Amino acid sequence: MKQKEIYKCNVCGKVIEILNPAAPETICCGQPMVLMEAQTKDWKLEKHTPKITVEGNKVTVDVGISMGTPHPMTAEHYIMWIELICKDNCYKRQMLSPGMEPKATFVVADTSGLKAREYCNLHGLWISEK
Ligand SMILES: [Fe+2]
Repeated sequence: MKQKEIYKCNVCGKVIEILNPAAPETICCGQPMVLMEAQTKDWKLEKHTPKITVEGNKVTVDVGISMGTPHPMTAEHYIMWIELICKDNCYKRQMLSPGMEPKATFVVADTSGLKAREYCNLHGLWISEK
């Protein structure tokens, strides 16, 4: 296990992130939780790959908005969070709720080597790089 890995319980749907990777295995509902591999390529019309836009030190990450098809944000299907991973172990997360826009804005000191992750409650974990 490594820091920032996301695990899901395939029985109850619980999702966790590893902060301290000391434990050898994470058990939920009597079985090991499953490591979620971040997807990078959209496989249907709906857009999931996070888009990173940089303006000075302001970094905006959106899901589908800049592609003309904002990801749904309904109670049944929505983006639960957007994360920005930046240099020097900088790590930022915006939690989202149904009804909000599928985007988040962050301010960072260094905009090189950015990565963004987002989590859709139905379609899982997605990542992209700037
Ligand atoms: Fe989705």
